[in-house]
Amino acid sequence: MPGGRPSGAASRRSTLRAAGAARIAWADGQMPVLEAIRERFARERPLAGTRVAACLHITAETANLVRALAAGGAEVSLCAANPLSTQDDVAAALVAEHGAEVFGARGEDRAAYERALLELIDRAPQILIDDGAELIVCAHRDGGAAAAALLGATEETATGLVRLRAMEAEQALRCPVLAVNESLTERVFNDRYGTGQSTLDGILRATNLLLAGRAVVVLGYGSAGRGVAQRAKGAGAAVIVCEVDPVAALEARMEGFEVMSALAAAPRGEVFITVTGAPDVLRREHFELMRDGALLANAGHFDVEISLGELAALASGPPREVLPLVDEYELPGRRLHVVAKGRVVNLAAAAGHPAAVMDLSFAAQALAVAALASAGGQRTPGVHPVAAAVDHEVARLKLATLGIEIDALSDAQERYLRPFGRIH
Ligand SMILES: NC(=O)c1ccc[n+]([C@@H]2O[C@H](COP(=O)([O-])OP(=O)(O)OC[C@H]3O[C@@H](n4cnc5c(N)ncnc54)[C@H](O)[C@@H]3O)[C@@H](O)[C@H]2O)c1
Repeated sequence: MPGGRPSGAASRRSTLRAAGAARIAWADGQMPVLEAIRERFARERPLAGTRVAACLHITAETANLVRALAAGGAEVSLCAANPLSTQDDVAAALVAEHGAEVFGARGEDRAAYERALLELIDRAPQILIDDGAELIVCAHRDGGAAAAALLGATEETATGLVRLRAMEAEQALRCPVLAVNESLTERVFNDRYGTGQSTLDGILRATNLLLAGRAVVVLGYGSAGRGVAQRAKGAGAAVIVCEVDPVAALEARMEGFEVMSALAAAPRGEVFITVTGAPDVLRREHFELMRDGALLANAGHFDVEISLGELAALASGPPREVLPLVDEYELPGRRLHVVAKGRVVNLAAAAGHPAAVMDLSFAAQALAVAALASAGGQRTPGVHPVAAAVDHEVARLKLATLGIEIDALSDAQERYLRPFGRIH
């Protein structure tokens, strides 16, 4: 329509792009470390001509990682690690303004999700960035030629690393993978502070529950569960921790939490939050003991931690949506509520990790990708730790953005403490 007003569809697309661009810019303002890396990448071009495929949550924070990689010279394609977390406006802005190829729409079905993974592998990527190992597993299909051709991959989440280590043990892993999830940056800041806050945010947005004085059961006291338990305690909840690892359980106890088995916690809890990575953590025997009105949510990567099949089998009819994202199951004499169908609640019901936390995590991702590119495929297939230098660099940059200066060891202290040389 030359000279005329844009059509309805074109106008909606441009509104969507503008909204996405605004979100990306807002997140960028909270991500000074990644900004510093983007500026350095733009000068040094460590990824010039490198094809990078990423399977990540399509959010404004991810968009800023894509921008940093593109500034370093990478050709980036992106698909969604979880269709429920896709921000369509961000995807539109990434395509229109940052030249990335994006495959994914909020709420897409499994078939569309699978197609998106294949689209990325079809582009013969040299480096993969994964969150749940689905893309890496996809590269291993059909004989694994795509995986064998990789310079390497990075993995963002604990559940992804479980899968990759199982492949490694079976000698089926054909590329080097950097375990970004296990970098200190990720475990301390991302999992503890990011997952902790955003998990409660998701539950509160969906339910507007008062946490003060409420019995909150956190199942799993790992990197992420610690954060959930801490934040719930900070909001005034009476927190109970359930664990299977005796050391983690003891640590929780010494942090002041009540610790008990899930069976003992079942009749006590008012809110249950699974964050273990394991399947069927809450199941029939627990549902049978829960009190009327108990609320169940999952912050683990996959929707396997709350056994919805067993819950449905106990219920007198199909679940009823009592609020958007809250399903009610009617059991004899009781109702149990499940948030976001047991899917990862901080993404399904809230905006995921705050940008300031993803700043650190994605800064580590960007540096890990650059390390894979500069190693030029020299690493052996297998899961490798991220170099300590990456954590130090990310923390140093973050401190600098906060205007915080710290001391340095004197030469004499250095010799005394590190007789075998500096660690970074
Ligand atoms: N929602 C998010 O944004 C987010 C962020 C980080 C991690 N995750 C996911 O959360 C899960 C846990 O991640 P993590 O990094 O904390 O892992 P982790 O390995 O550090 O901790 C998991 C803990 O759960 C415990 N556990 C395992 N099975 C259990 C069971 N049946 N009952 C009670 N405790 C049990 C383990 O002993 C361990 O201490 C994974 O699925 C991970 O991918 C989600």
